[in-house]
Amino acid sequence: MKQLTTNDQSNCFLRLNTATEHLFMMSLEDFILGLPKAELHVHIEGTFEPELMFEIARRNNLKVKYSSVEELKAAYQFNNLQEFLNIYYSGADVLIEEQDFYDLTWDYLLKIHSQNVLHTEIFFDPQTHSLRAVPFSKVISGIHRALEDGREKLGISSRLILSILRHLSEESAFQTLQEALEYREWITAFGLDSSERGHPPSKFQRVFEKALEEGFLTVAHAGEEGPPEYVWDALNLLHVSRIDHGNRALKDPVLVQELVKRKMPLTVCPLSNLKLKVVRDMTKHPLAEMMEKGMLATINSDDPAYFGGYVNENYLAVASALNLTHEQIVQLAKNSFTASFLEEEEKQEMIEKVEEYDHLFFD
Ligand code: ADE
Ligand code: ZN
Repeated sequence: MKQLTTNDQSNCFLRLNTATEHLFMMSLEDFILGLPKAELHVHIEGTFEPELMFEIARRNNLKVKYSSVEELKAAYQFNNLQEFLNIYYSGADVLIEEQDFYDLTWDYLLKIHSQNVLHTEIFFDPQTHSLRAVPFSKVISGIHRALEDGREKLGISSRLILSILRHLSEESAFQTLQEALEYREWITAFGLDSSERGHPPSKFQRVFEKALEEGFLTVAHAGEEGPPEYVWDALNLLHVSRIDHGNRALKDPVLVQELVKRKMPLTVCPLSNLKLKVVRDMTKHPLAEMMEKGMLATINSDDPAYFGGYVNENYLAVASALNLTHEQIVQLAKNSFTASFLEEEEKQEMIEKVEEYDHLFFD
């Protein structure tokens, strides 16, 4: 067994279960940084960095609730999901024009390009904006235009997931679905996010049935703060292709078996879980247990501007806290493509890229 040293502050090590003696002194950070990967759970409104927020507020003649970037960042202390959501929705309030949504998305793409993310599947919350009379067309056109540029100029492929705010009504969800139909070509899946407790998937069963009829795939946040029953409902009532988070599924062994049997992907978000106190500290994070049980776990950033890290920082945080092996890190990168909404052939191509990269360093 050999260890890779790191040059980062946390002084974490990647353990190598290989006898490859000539591999020496490569940092964990460098290995993860260069690893080809996909991101499958990121809210575009959650990538809104404070500096850009102030710039967009200024050009729209609006005020951010805090007087400086530093004051805003200092407010990013959360005891639960709802405390975070309150700040997240108020941050999004300054997004008005198509160009704002373009800039937001473009900044995120530049960031992940620097982290070797080759493919991303992005949530957007149209109701957050329609409540402020910002038309659906402006929101989706700005995001879509940036994604097109991302493909052409950065080589990043992408999918868009429309996410329904579960604290709002079924009627509002139906109306949002109706608006989305005009842009069906640009939207791959229909999701469910926002305040989980007290808003079970069953509340949106009929909307999701309609979304499936219209040809969208479905996903849902479930088991982040809510009980395992919400994960069951996401599977059986919303017919999801992925569970977003899913941490609390581990409380129900029969559910775990079912998720394994179905090869149901979980889009896990370690730094989010830490910041929202879903886990007490990173060494208690269930990612390794999920993998040991045979669940198809992936690593994602959720709301990176609020939680202190993009995809690579999430990999680094769990690799360090859970002493993940080199094989586990590579498996997570492969899982990210397996669990994506890419075509089978594209998935294989991406997985081969992971393998080629791995073989550069490990026999
Ligand atoms: N919206 C943005 N981030 C979210 C999260 N972690 N859970 C539920 N809804 C969200
Ligand atoms: Zn999320």
